[in-house]
Amino acid sequence: MPKLKVVTFGCQANELDSARIAGLLAREGYSLVEDEREADLIILNGCSIREKAEQKLYSRLGSYQALKAQRPGLRLGVAGCLAQREGEGLLRRFPYLDVVVGNGEHLAEMPQLLQIAADRPVAAVGEPTGLFPTDVDVHRESRFRAWVGIMEGCDNFCAFCVVPMTRGRERSRPPDHILREVAWLRDHGYREITLLGQTVNSYGMKLDPPMSFATLLRRLDAEIGKAMRVRFTTSHPKDVTADLIEAMATLPCVCQHMHLPVQAGSTRTLQRMKRGYDREEYMVKASALRNAIPDLAITTDIIVGFPGESESDFSSTLSLMREVAFDGSFAFKFSPRPRTPAAEYPDQVPESVRTERLRQVLILQDELSLRRNQEQLGRTVEVLVDRELRKRDTGLAAGRTRQNRIVHFGGGEIEEGVLASVRITGATAHHLKGVLTASL
Ligand code: 5AD
Ligand code: SF4
Repeated sequence: MPKLKVVTFGCQANELDSARIAGLLAREGYSLVEDEREADLIILNGCSIREKAEQKLYSRLGSYQALKAQRPGLRLGVAGCLAQREGEGLLRRFPYLDVVVGNGEHLAEMPQLLQIAADRPVAAVGEPTGLFPTDVDVHRESRFRAWVGIMEGCDNFCAFCVVPMTRGRERSRPPDHILREVAWLRDHGYREITLLGQTVNSYGMKLDPPMSFATLLRRLDAEIGKAMRVRFTTSHPKDVTADLIEAMATLPCVCQHMHLPVQAGSTRTLQRMKRGYDREEYMVKASALRNAIPDLAITTDIIVGFPGESESDFSSTLSLMREVAFDGSFAFKFSPRPRTPAAEYPDQVPESVRTERLRQVLILQDELSLRRNQEQLGRTVEVLVDRELRKRDTGLAAGRTRQNRIVHFGGGEIEEGVLASVRITGATAHHLKGVLTASL
């Protein structure tokens, strides 16, 4: 039986694609291995969103050259956004590479590409226009938590972002396919799903007939009720509608968490980023969400040092963070990406300024996260127990709340994949501490 190692660098969409690759190649007889030295095929599934992500993949690929010299039968592949963006150039740059495979429907071409690669290196990277087929079993690591891809691609073309180039135009999976997959997961004991898409709440606008994301959530809720928790990511502020807020506030299956990237707090910067909303619109939507769903956690992405970002623009980011009181954020230094408009903007911000601004955002976020977590003290919350989150040295169990907060807790033995009731007794910026009160 040939052995496959998949190495993933990147976002949840990349992780789902890796699970798809593993599922697809299992059909071809491949079994997954942990140790790359045992593998007959290594696929590096890589991200292209920032330069750092690409460098990680290149350095790993370099380390496999020596491995290949020792094991002449070993085949090497690169998949994902990096493959999609660099295409055949990767084969020229790394002559020991066998396969380059892009996103969307290209992933499904992998078996045929591997056959061709027996004779010569090969790449399949035309702009993706389709979706991964639904009849392939996804290889799922967890038996209680699953990602469900519901849409792919993006039509927004933010000035800094490569995603519309690497994942193609926005396209949605038909609702019946999604419902079938979700029903299967429920019937197999899964307790939580995360609906995935680059702008997940723009779901269905281009379906015929169109269907809103809120309607999809209602259909999911009717199917699964309380059997599973439903999360989704990533949401775009422009498509946070009153209807979606209402659905989130009323549907029992939907978790009280929204990841809502703001990117910057100044309207001038948002306009230059081509984000499609201004500071006020973001604030109005964030307040509407908080008013309708009082225990909602809002997390975000922030870019510091976007070209032309002045000190006063940057202060607006800090003030917006305080006003929304984000529960968490991912902050990034602007990274100029090839073929994006922002890379060509003349007023690039020096690296030292970007580094300093990132530092300030991280400090502020820790302060806000701590405050939000401290508000949980004394409450009893629902936790989905997850062994991966456990810290070995504490011996405590761990899991996530409906707001996606991590909780470490003692007070009894409890199995992974079970819902538990936990009383919160402590808080840091990064997690909560608690005591088990019951298993649900
Ligand atoms: N530079 C820095 N951060 C970026 N992101 C996307 N493109 C870039 C870039 N060129 C960030 C955004 C996005 C997240 C997934 O990555 O914040 O929401
Ligand atoms: Fe990139 Fe903007 Fe699309 Fe998000 S909405 S994937 S940041 S282009």
